[in-house]
Amino acid sequence: MNIAVLGTGKVGSTLGARLASRGHRVLYGSRTPTGPDRLDHRSAVAASDVVVTALPGNDVLGVLDEIGGEVLGDKILLDPSATIIPQAATEHTDCGEVAVPVQTRFPRTRVVKTLNTMNFTIMVDPLDSVPAATVFVSGDDAAAKTVIIGLLGDLGWPDAGIIDLGGIGTAAATEQAGSLYFATVRALGDAKFNLTVSR
Ligand SMILES: NC(=O)c1ccc[n+]([C@@H]2O[C@H](COP(=O)([O-])OP(=O)(O)OC[C@H]3O[C@@H](n4cnc5c(N)ncnc54)[C@H](OP(=O)(O)O)[C@@H]3O)[C@@H](O)[C@H]2O)c1
Repeated sequence: MNIAVLGTGKVGSTLGARLASRGHRVLYGSRTPTGPDRLDHRSAVAASDVVVTALPGNDVLGVLDEIGGEVLGDKILLDPSATIIPQAATEHTDCGEVAVPVQTRFPRTRVVKTLNTMNFTIMVDPLDSVPAATVFVSGDDAAAKTVIIGLLGDLGWPDAGIIDLGGIGTAAATEQAGSLYFATVRALGDAKFNLTVSR
């Protein structure tokens, strides 16, 4: 598939490298386009079927607004982002919503929330790092979720570890789990863990 990865930081470069190694054509969308594989955001999206928003959660809507709904169209949008709401002098980290606001702003675009409940080092080959794997998927469009679940397989997620929570409204649950994620990072002193469902 042709995949636009917006953002060239830790998540974008990790997912992009793995997806490219699995035979996908990855185009990065960046604020600093420098070459044929690192374009401006709009050009990367225009040339792709799937868009990955590996951007600070607070910046996702702004970047997508600049790209525009006509270019986004009915493309599939994989959103792994998290929005951190700064809290003054507290141990608690509040996390805001991204996926539903994006889906509401761009109703034709098929938004799928996933990969937002683990550190970027766990996003590929999770079972190489931790003993159990759970990744959640939320989205309204069944066909888009099937494509994204296929990409999760390419990243190394076993079928049994992929939980389809339902519509895009369920993304808020995983976005709010960011608070649990950050509290756990503080408690353990590192991020080499995954929030998993055991049953
Ligand atoms: N790191 C993790 O383990 C992890 C885990 C789960 C979810 N997430 C979420 O995934 C997203 C990406 O995280 P990350 O760790 O990859 O962050 P990061 O390393 O800071 O990279 C984010 C990238 O987004 C672009 N960017 C930064 N500020 C921007 C702005 N104001 N406007 C537009 N683009 C901007 C930059 O790419 P260019 O310079 O190329 O434009 C930057 O490299 C975030 O929402 C994060 O919360 C991260």
